[in-house]
Amino acid sequence: MLKKYAVTLILFITFWSGSHAGTFKVAIASAHPLATDAGLEIIRKGGNVFDAAVAVSAALAVVEPTGSGLGGGGYWLLHREIDALDTLIDGREKAPLAAHKAMFLDKKGNAVPNLSLDGALAAAIPGLPAALVHLSEKYGRLPLSESLRPAIRYAQNGFAVGNKYLKLLKFRAEVLKKYPQTAKIFFTDGEFPKAYSILRQADLANTLNRLAIAGRAGFYNGDIADKLVNTVRKAGGIWTQEDLDNYQIVERKPVTGDYHGIKITSAAPSSSGGIVLIEALNILSDYDLQHADAITQKHLITEAMRRAYHDRALYLGDSDFIDIPVKRLLSKDYAAGLRSSIRSDKTLPSALLSGDDLPQPEGTHTTHFSIIDDTGNRVAATLSINFPFGSGFVAEGTGVLLNDEMDDFVSHKGANGYGLVGGTANAIVPGKRMLSSMTPTFLEDGPRIAVLGTPGGSRIISMVLLAALDFAQGNTPESWVNLPRFHHQFMPDVLEYEQNALTDAELAGLVARGHQTQEARYRYGDMQAAMLDKTTHTLSAASDRRGEGRAVVGGLE
Ligand code: GLY
Repeated sequence: MLKKYAVTLILFITFWSGSHAGTFKVAIASAHPLATDAGLEIIRKGGNVFDAAVAVSAALAVVEPTGSGLGGGGYWLLHREIDALDTLIDGREKAPLAAHKAMFLDKKGNAVPNLSLDGALAAAIPGLPAALVHLSEKYGRLPLSESLRPAIRYAQNGFAVGNKYLKLLKFRAEVLKKYPQTAKIFFTDGEFPKAYSILRQADLANTLNRLAIAGRAGFYNGDIADKLVNTVRKAGGIWTQEDLDNYQIVERKPVTGDYHGIKITSAAPSSSGGIVLIEALNILSDYDLQHADAITQKHLITEAMRRAYHDRALYLGDSDFIDIPVKRLLSKDYAAGLRSSIRSDKTLPSALLSGDDLPQPEGTHTTHFSIIDDTGNRVAATLSINFPFGSGFVAEGTGVLLNDEMDDFVSHKGANGYGLVGGTANAIVPGKRMLSSMTPTFLEDGPRIAVLGTPGGSRIISMVLLAALDFAQGNTPESWVNLPRFHHQFMPDVLEYEQNALTDAELAGLVARGHQTQEARYRYGDMQAAMLDKTTHTLSAASDRRGEGRAVVGGLE
């Protein structure tokens, strides 16, 4: 009681001083300029970074419907400076209670093509609305209705659609056009909208308003809930009101590690992100990467990725349902064992670790934003509806585009939409969360505190790994987010690289060591990063040049 009183008092003093001291600065980077603006607007209204995180999340749900939304979920990694609290809000979607192992298989036990990706059956129970309510009520200063205001305005008044939206609309057009209520929102009279035409989402504005007025009940009960359940069921889905009633976010202790004196704090299961990231860094920690030649450096990083993603496939799933050997996977001794199987002159084919040959991952989305204030309070949030435009299914009358995260479970023999494999640890069970790769992360080396993450499906973890290694070299957020990328996820046994990420000599050297290499069909990721340097008292932020986001430093002058 005394402790609670003390914390409340300190928080009050911080609030009081923060709102009267005159200056309060934040760095924000998100995948859409309007979402970044929404965060800044809320800071200027007296909100803290957690209110800003609510505003940015909700704004992204409106202006980046390709990546996240009220019909999806995500992870918010928080740090509150006053009591040094690090916590992860796990707002990942859950399998409906009527879900079962064979729900995406035909009578012969074969996967029905695209059933776990397109349409109402692919949708799991959303977590984003519950997470925003929780984040606002427990950590924010402003009422939820205030933090949701920019998003409601964007939905009501509309926003200009950019080239990324149009590209992804084309990618998912066939699915979206199957559902008239979806097509009505995202197309213009059935045609592709012109670049920079205005997209208004009146039903979504109404749903956000309900959330603003009634909190959790505005989404999971009443009129909106009825529409969600009824239209999902009419379209072959299996949601019930009981699923919506039962949905709860979970606050989890983030996973932590240490790499050459850098503290890593990242997402715990139900995301695999933090464990795979730290395991790979542990494997690499005994090499002098900085002084290795470029081929050896990339070879070793690839071999670390291979082994860490292999453990993802074997051991990781929802820790509320399965036992995960977290301690072992994060132990330096375990990493040393894995390291001893790495030869510097030769790759170890993934088939010798175990597994089948698998298809390549296809298109991907999701979103990320990073916020840090000038005292170190911070949020790294990665949010998703899985594939671009999720399942393509909008629950009629709600404007809510539903996710297709059921595909992140292992539902059949073979790979999911990202080419990822797994086993029983990530099998479908009613009420279980499907394993994610989302990797919202903090890095701290003493003076510098970094907040980062990215969308990109299975490649998320390898992107954050490369960024963490770049942070370790002393480089800036601008450098981490724009690094050329390469990736290995154990299966398929391919070292994939972005165009120009590897020189001809590096490619030849890696092939000579036994790597199968393949150029990615497109540049991937949309990393958003922010940093506080305590020595120079400076904030900085950067938004991936591959995307259309905005990074700013601003606040109350
Ligand atoms: N839906 C992508 C992920 O959670 O990893």
